[in-house]
Amino acid sequence: MPIRTQVAIVGAGPAGLVLAQLLHLRGIDSVVIENRSRSYVEQRIRAGVLEHGTTDLLTDAGVGERMHREGMVHNGVELLFDGEGHRIAFDELAGKGIMVYGQHEVVKDLIAARLATGRPLYFEVSDVVVDPAAAVVRFVHDGQPVELRADYIAGCDGFHGVCRPAIADLTVFEREYPFAWLGILAQAAPSSHELIYAYSPRGFALHSMRSPTVTRNYLQVAPDEDLDEWPDERIWSELRARLDRHGGFTLTDGPILEKGVTTMRSFVVEPMQHGRLFLAGDAAHIVPPTGAKGLNLAVADVKVLADALELFYVKGSDSGLAAYSTTCLRRVWRVQHFSWWMTSMLHRSRDGDPFEQQLQLSQLRYVVSSRAAATSLAENYVGLPLPG
Ligand code: FAD
Ligand code: PHB
Repeated sequence: MPIRTQVAIVGAGPAGLVLAQLLHLRGIDSVVIENRSRSYVEQRIRAGVLEHGTTDLLTDAGVGERMHREGMVHNGVELLFDGEGHRIAFDELAGKGIMVYGQHEVVKDLIAARLATGRPLYFEVSDVVVDPAAAVVRFVHDGQPVELRADYIAGCDGFHGVCRPAIADLTVFEREYPFAWLGILAQAAPSSHELIYAYSPRGFALHSMRSPTVTRNYLQVAPDEDLDEWPDERIWSELRARLDRHGGFTLTDGPILEKGVTTMRSFVVEPMQHGRLFLAGDAAHIVPPTGAKGLNLAVADVKVLADALELFYVKGSDSGLAAYSTTCLRRVWRVQHFSWWMTSMLHRSRDGDPFEQQLQLSQLRYVVSSRAAATSLAENYVGLPLPG
């Protein structure tokens, strides 16, 4: 069965769904296809920090109502090392804060908005094949083969998708880290008003949250860590040890709702476009989660793409589309640097290199004692302005 649209969007994660909404608001037609089920994507626990520019964009796109009601505005984070906590005050240093609101909640809001437009969003498609030159996407839906013909394809299908491999001549930049994060979601009230990034001799830990009754915590572990070695009690006692400070710290625990190990990598492909296929979000780049940037970078890409497509359809100019990759990559590399820097400063290497540890401590002391250094962290964390 052939279908025709202006933009074929592969993937209903944050990148694909935000793009679909931005295009709808500009009167541009799209079809979104997703290989998972609606309930799977709505329950997939991932990022939790939204930059200021991301919340503004979601608000302007008409999908911010629940986020403003249920999300938590944070005006700083704490860096904990040598038994002392140091607050980095985002509002004072960068003039803005961040929003703590789960990625799966953003996805739920975007799916509801998409369905309300009446425009197509197909879940549980299979056998997806993209042709970047012809801008054709073939897939199977409800047992029927479908041929989707478009002007352009947006490859928003994440790191393991099919769009990036459809491009032959890509330059890959990559770094793997010798550690991973063991993440838990727990039915427990947050033990701090703001996120705590802890540098400890036992390894990095992060105390984060999703709501006044649900916390999200992470521990630095080995990349090949076996989850079976981590019964709940060991996780809580390790979190307590790493988050401990002079004067003590009380970590509220509770039933663990979900746990998993996430490997960490930095990854970029250049260019982010080939023929009529444009890659956006994790399909084109991955950052280690220490800077809380993955989702925000995906949103920044599709903002650039939506503006470029609008220029094409409304003014007939392809200059925005021609500049897409260059425009996106400027931000991608800034965010790559920030995420690598936060990761390098906060994680202990396995071999316990004493020289590296002294450098990390020196950097941490500098960040919390120099207004200039703290401002640099703050403005990157809350997010540099979105292009356009
Ligand atoms: P995705 O969210 O991956 O969306 C891609 C979508 O495409 C998915 O729904 C997928 O099912 C679909 N898809 C894949 N293949 C196909 C296909 N062939 N056809 C159709 N659809 C397809 N960032 C943080 O800042 N903090 C975190 O704690 C954090 N944790 C993470 C944990 C994990 C396990 C992962 C994988 C990522 C995490 N990230 C985190 C990163 C952040 O979640 C991503 O950067 C963000 O999801 C990027 O959005 P996206 O839309 O580009 O990609
Ligand atoms: C999260 O809440 O999941 C989270 C917060 C900050 C990060 C990474 C993940 O840097």
